Amino acid sequence: MFSQLKQFWVALAIGGAIVWGTGPAQAGDVIKERHTLMEEIGQQLGKLVKVLKNEAPFNGQEIAAAAQMIKDNLDKAEKLFPKGSLSDKSRAKPEIWTDNATFMKAFDTAKKAAAKIVEIGKAEDEMEFPEAMNSVFQSCKGCHEKFRFPKKDN
Ligand code: HEC
Repeated sequence: MFSQLKQFWVALAIGGAIVWGTGPAQAGDVIKERHTLMEEIGQQLGKLVKVLKNEAPFNGQEIAAAAQMIKDNLDKAEKLFPKGSLSDKSRAKPEIWTDNATFMKAFDTAKKAAAKIVEIGKAEDEMEFPEAMNSVFQSCKGCHEKFRFPKKDN
C-alpha cells in the first residue's frame, strides 16, 4: 500500500514536469524545461549522495525511486535539445549538434548508470551502491565537461 502510494506520488511528480505537448515548442521553452528536468535530476542525486555519505539510511525503495526519476528525466531531457536551441540563459554547447552521436551516447550511458541504481535499490544491495554511484557521477560529469559551458557569472 505504502509503495503503491509512493509510486503514484512519483508518477505525479514526473508527470507534472511536462508542461507542453507535441506542437513546435519555442526555443526558450525547451531550454527552461530541460533545465528544470536537470535540476530535478540534481535533487534526486542529492538524496542518493546523502545515503552514500551515511547521512541517510540505505532504504532500497527510496533509492530505487530516486534513481528511476533520474532515469525518466534523462529520457525526457534527451528529447529537449532541438538543433540550435542555444540562448544566453543556456549552458548548452554547440557541440551537442556537431557531435550529436556522442551526446546521445552520453545520455545512454547515464541512463544505464541510473538503471543500475534502481536495480541495486530493489535488491537492497548496499555493497554495490558506492561503485554504481561512481558510475553515475562519471556519466553526469562526462557529458557536462564536453557539452555544457561552465556557469556564467551573472
Ligand atoms: C548527455 C548529456 C548530459 C548528461 C548525461 C547529464 N547532463 Fe546535466 N546538463 C546537460 C546540459 C547540456 C546542461 C545545460 C542545459 C542548458 O543550459 O540548456 C545540463 C544542465 C544540468 C544542470 C543545471 C545546472 C545549471 O546550473 O544550469 C544540472 C543540475 C544537471 N545538469 C545535473 C545533472 C546530473 C546530476 C546528471 C547525472 C545524473 C546529469 N546532469 C547528466 C547535459 C547532460
